[in-house]
Amino acid sequence: MTQTYRKKLIEVAIPLEAINAASAREKSIRHGHPSTLHLWWARRPLAACRAVLFAQLVDDPSSHPERFPTEEAVETERQRLFRIIEDLVKWENSTNDEVLQHARIEIQKNFPDGVPPAYDPFSGGGSIPLEALRLGLRSHGSDLNPVAVMIGKAMIELPSQFKDQKPVHPGKPERLHYRGAEGLAEDILWYAKELSNRARKKIGRLYPSVGLPKKDGGGEATVLAWLWARTVASPNPAVRGAHVPLISNYWLCNKPKKSVWVKPVVNGTDISFEVHSGKPDDEDAVAAGTKAGRGANFRCLLTGEAVTADYVKAEGMAGRMGWRLLAIVVEGKGGRRYVAPTKEHETLAFSEKPDWRPEYPLSQHPQYMSVTNYGPTNISDLFMDRQTIALNTFMGLIPDVVRDIPDSAQGKRYSRIWCCA
Ligand SMILES: C[S@@+](CC[C@H](N)C(=O)[O-])C[C@H]1O[C@@H](n2cnc3c(N)ncnc32)[C@H](O)[C@@H]1O
Repeated sequence: MTQTYRKKLIEVAIPLEAINAASAREKSIRHGHPSTLHLWWARRPLAACRAVLFAQLVDDPSSHPERFPTEEAVETERQRLFRIIEDLVKWENSTNDEVLQHARIEIQKNFPDGVPPAYDPFSGGGSIPLEALRLGLRSHGSDLNPVAVMIGKAMIELPSQFKDQKPVHPGKPERLHYRGAEGLAEDILWYAKELSNRARKKIGRLYPSVGLPKKDGGGEATVLAWLWARTVASPNPAVRGAHVPLISNYWLCNKPKKSVWVKPVVNGTDISFEVHSGKPDDEDAVAAGTKAGRGANFRCLLTGEAVTADYVKAEGMAGRMGWRLLAIVVEGKGGRRYVAPTKEHETLAFSEKPDWRPEYPLSQHPQYMSVTNYGPTNISDLFMDRQTIALNTFMGLIPDVVRDIPDSAQGKRYSRIWCCA
């Protein structure tokens, strides 16, 4: 018996305007979107994936003339399906169980013998497997890139394994009832804090706080980031090899209501950096940094001489590039603050050497790693000493923290996952 081909909704029509609007809105979501946890290039909008999966799984009403015999009946039913999609794609409905369940039931009606599984062999940031799971499908994903596989595991596979479970950490539970991945999330935060406390004891000396100026509220503030510039020796022999910074612009923050920038101060062949806020007198100079044209073309801050891209590459390949600290970003009361660099903070980053480095060669393929044109040949060259020490410390402490997870069934499953990772 031949089965008549039934057109799916996606082959006929979908509510594009609503899908496009929801997809565009997703770009500005700052909380709860997977892209805020880990960036992945060419990540597909979740709204579009959800809509496309749904529209691929439900039949277009024209496929059922016995139920929708007239064009009018077909159109009315199509509009009903459109309204489900319009509801489904709204960001705030991503975890709305009522809306999702409505869509799941609609899909199930089209597969009385069970919904098919979904498989994305190029899953990248995991948008398609994630949305397939939300729509009630058994979901699979794979990718050539191990980072993408890790994102998929963390975002899709593990949360579904610990669905509706209570946390196991020995602290005070934050809720009475746990839904979805709430228990797992609480454990992750609890053990991450434990890890961070132990790491602070070991290497906190390399991460001192910073004294805030009175105008920024005074007191000590935690450092969020150190902003560095690479340097090369000036090509002008008159300054006898003094290093000059390569800076694409001096802006630290350039928003309508807040602008902060770095001002270089030259004293002979010495260069230091101040941090200023408010509107600069010469915005073009702030926006230009020490750049001179496209690519890696700069100008010498001491003499104005051209620092060409070829010169920068040659200095990099010879292992002669240096570092200068431009500014320190700290967590102030009511938001980020920017503080001028200090000698202590500049030297601390290089004050200790790691006892292990990731000595693995970088790909020489120019399409993937343009950094190799500037000297680095090894993964270890991409990290400063302090960064390597911090990463080594975290890696060394994870097994200790895992050992302290309670010996319950769920605790054992956490430990097994760590062992497999
Ligand atoms: C466009 S991205 C996928 C984006 C994903 N849909 C999302 O929303 O995040 C394409 C993915 O294909 C992967 N890829 C490329 N060639 C591959 C291959 N031969 N086998 C498996 N994955 C591959 C890449 O690593 C990349 O993650």
